[in-house]
Amino acid sequence: MEVAAVVPAAGSGERLGAGRPKALVEVAGVAMVTRAVDGLLGSGVVDEVIVVAPPEHLEEMAKAVPTAGRVVPGGHDRVASVALGLAEVPGADVVLVHDAARCLCPAGVVSAVVAAVRAGHAAVVPAIPVADTVRRAVDGGRVELVDRTGLLAVQTPQGFDVDVLRRAHAAAGDHRATDDAGLVEAIGGEVVTVPGDPRAFKITTPLDLAMAEALVRAL
Ligand code: C5P
Repeated sequence: MEVAAVVPAAGSGERLGAGRPKALVEVAGVAMVTRAVDGLLGSGVVDEVIVVAPPEHLEEMAKAVPTAGRVVPGGHDRVASVALGLAEVPGADVVLVHDAARCLCPAGVVSAVVAAVRAGHAAVVPAIPVADTVRRAVDGGRVELVDRTGLLAVQTPQGFDVDVLRRAHAAAGDHRATDDAGLVEAIGGEVVTVPGDPRAFKITTPLDLAMAEALVRAL
């Protein structure tokens, strides 16, 4: 069974304010995309990695990920970028989709996701319980309480039976889910979870970056 991973890294990373694609921003001296790719390959359960890069930064990205199988240009949003990566792995049976921004994800999460897909689950997401009390903004500054019971925060890598993910992307049309599991659900597919890990958090803001650097130094 061939396991391929697609790393969507074609975003601009405006919220990080680094003035360059987020995936190329360094965490303690190593670019996020480099850490993400090495983490996937280092898990020992991933055969090849395709990085989807901003079209104007292909060369720079390729230099940052010498171990990746290929670096291909991305699309206008995340869904389009993942679809372009998916087109590059015709021989895969299992596909992982992993955000470069979750570059400190431990190997155990990667292997748990792959094991669950191999066990027959077509769509698998790592998830952790939501620790905060959650409220929904309604109108005029009012909020309403959301029952926290059973609420989970979903991470990546997300793992899929390749045929199911291809069908989900083919059917996506204008439907813009924030993750690939959402596209599978939209075609009636079932999504299961495996335990995620706080270290798989997504680096979005300068504070996240500072926390990631502290984490690397502490480990
Ligand atoms: O912006 P956000 O952090 O939610 O993006 C999630 C992931 O999708 C990032 O890794 C980003 O690089 C990627 N992305 C992409 N192509 C786009 C937009 C975002 O690969 N056009």
